[in-house]
Amino acid sequence: MDSPDKDNREESRKEEEAKAKGKALVDIVNLVSLFGFLYGSLDNRLDFDEALARQLKKPSPNYRTRLESNLLACLGGISLVLIILQFATGILLLLYYRPTTAEAYQSIIEITNQVPFGWLIRGLHYWGANLLIGAVILHMIRIFFTGAYKSPREFTWVSGVVLFIITLLLGFSGFLLPWNQLSYWTTTVATDGMSAIPLIGETLKFFVRGGLEVGQLGLTRFFASHVVILPGILMIFLAIHFLMVRRLGIADPL
Ligand code: HEM
Repeated sequence: MDSPDKDNREESRKEEEAKAKGKALVDIVNLVSLFGFLYGSLDNRLDFDEALARQLKKPSPNYRTRLESNLLACLGGISLVLIILQFATGILLLLYYRPTTAEAYQSIIEITNQVPFGWLIRGLHYWGANLLIGAVILHMIRIFFTGAYKSPREFTWVSGVVLFIITLLLGFSGFLLPWNQLSYWTTTVATDGMSAIPLIGETLKFFVRGGLEVGQLGLTRFFASHVVILPGILMIFLAIHFLMVRRLGIADPL
């Protein structure tokens, strides 16, 4: 039989456990009510509930069975899925990539050969980028040939053009990051072409390269553009693009 001492210890342990559980529950309730309190005050000013209700009540566009309005109408969605994939794999690559001229190439070799599944993540990011550019171009072509850019969707088209340019710039800035012969010389040649732009060409080239030649400052600028500046602008224009698509609905088939 158990000793009374052991029984007492067992009982007080159970009491402690119950108290801890009770405290955790109180903490959770407090957190939720704090959120609720803030939500109420914010909602008074920003009308979240009303905005959400309006969006949820809005009927979604009719489903049509013509090829033009299902397979081809998926190209924008496919681009979005690829963008999400690029963000996910890009964040994983960031955990190992080192953006310095001395270490960038070495870190890419390590990601490919030593980091578990690094080869897969890198491959997905590389092929995702190529597919994304292809999908965006096809999306643009479908919009053009179905006349979906016409009034009232001109600004959806304009925001799309910005998205297209940013997608290309993301590809261009990412290409330098492995810091291998191909990426270095491609960037050198591509930035050389900037001199042909009248008036601002030379200054622009100097600014983008971070000096007379592509070097550490250039790599830093390409890295900053690739992981912060361009994705930030992309997200803003994606929000604008989707708000307009949502508000105006999908264009009728020709
Ligand atoms: C990052 C790139 C882009 C993403 C993720 C994206 C996403 C989308 C999505 C999901 C739609 C809904 C219907 C559909 O998928 O066709 C759409 C519609 C539209 N997009 Fe894009 N898009 C992108 C780039 C572009 C580009 C480059 C253009 C043109 C220059 C463009 C112009 C339009 C227009 C005009 C519509 C309305 C189409 C309609 O009402 O039928 N988008 N976009």
